[in-house]
Amino acid sequence: MDKIIIRGGKPLSGRIPISGAKNSALTLLPCALLTDEPLTLRNLPRLADVDSFGHLLNQLGVSTMIEGARPEDFGRVMTLRAGRVTSTVAPYDIVRKMRASILVLGPLLARAGEATVSLPGGCAIGNRPIDLHLKALEALGAEIEITAGYVTARAPKGGLPGGDFGFPVVSVGATENALMTAVLCKGTSTLRNAAREPEIVDLCNLLVAMGAKIEGIGGSTLVIHGKERLHGATYRVMADRIEAGSYACAAAITGSALDLIGAKLDEMEATVAALRQAGVHVEEIADGIAVRPNGKLQALTLSTAPFPGFATDMQAQFMAMLCLAEGASVLTETIFENRYMHVPELNRMGAHIEVKGRTAVVHGVERMVGAPVMATDLRASMSLIIAGLAAEGETEAGLSKRWFCSGHYPPPTPPFQGGEARCAA
Ligand code: EPZ
Repeated sequence: MDKIIIRGGKPLSGRIPISGAKNSALTLLPCALLTDEPLTLRNLPRLADVDSFGHLLNQLGVSTMIEGARPEDFGRVMTLRAGRVTSTVAPYDIVRKMRASILVLGPLLARAGEATVSLPGGCAIGNRPIDLHLKALEALGAEIEITAGYVTARAPKGGLPGGDFGFPVVSVGATENALMTAVLCKGTSTLRNAAREPEIVDLCNLLVAMGAKIEGIGGSTLVIHGKERLHGATYRVMADRIEAGSYACAAAITGSALDLIGAKLDEMEATVAALRQAGVHVEEIADGIAVRPNGKLQALTLSTAPFPGFATDMQAQFMAMLCLAEGASVLTETIFENRYMHVPELNRMGAHIEVKGRTAVVHGVERMVGAPVMATDLRASMSLIIAGLAAEGETEAGLSKRWFCSGHYPPPTPPFQGGEARCAA
């Protein structure tokens, strides 16, 4: 089994370039299907998911060319070109390894008039349905059919008319699929209670750069005026606000000073507000965000929520940080039904966390001790690394195959000095 070994108990220091955002890259890549012209994406993060997405797009007839990072970027450049779509099927063997494959459904339907994608199924954090994706596409005029584990979406003759859809639950992925479909519909579409995450704004900005007409960007009501075709573009993926927040938690729990280069305060206001409430000093600097120690961490009460609320993808990392805070913190996970798998592992390191339904009470302890632990989903894994950095002794985080097949290389050895984290086969 692959594992990450952390020898903690040492302060960190350094300036960390924040990668391009995973959850933006995975919705920008399928936009290549929306045009027959080249789409060049800069600052792409070094992730297995990005490579897998490239392979999936290759199977659909998209050519992809990777080049090194430009001096002003931290991630790679990929130029994609869907001159002709040669297949409209995203097969099970790819989709089961990369849930984000469902994000080809909309753009493929919009471009080719038909798309067949394997149902992605659930994952470690929940059953992850796609009913809202399908209802939104139906509202835009698509005919949906589910057979033998695949969903097929078809446009009527004459193309998708477009339409209005109000999301009963805020869904990032369903908003993304609906947006990438609506931009090539015949008429105007309105999406209500749409997700407002910065990754949605990044997607809208790319689509506009490709010639789309979208009103209300950044808000929860998006009006999309469909176009006959879109053109190519060159676009830089936004910085990963969750990666930046994770490093900030690592700095906070180890009482360290870290600069997060490229991080944007306005994309992580809820995270920064929570860090400050916990007693961490956070300030904007010329090229990002500086995190500085400021005495003992204080307990918090936090509930996850859609943006601009506190991100569910930051819950596990904050939980690790709060294990060493003064007092008892109360965290409530409102988005996913099974996002506390890191709790038993943190408790094995000496934390004192009690889970009751969707709420976890984190009783602050004086110290944590390294132990062999099992990583599950990406963010839970990061929480174990964060705890390991502050724990006495060695933590060995075993990475279940699911961790890798969730599309992530083991995190590169952190660029900061001090805490030692390295990957061991
Ligand atoms: C995206 O997942 C992110 N993934 C997740 O990040 C993130 O946690 C999530 O948004 C919430 O912010 C990517 O962008 C690749 P949702 P997504 O649709 O789109 C329910 C990470 O660690 N729902 O916003 O799948 C769903 O069950 C990952 O980087 C339906 O009921 O999430 C959940 O309770 C984890 N029906 C809620 O909505 C649907 O059709 C929000 O899910 C779709 C979703």
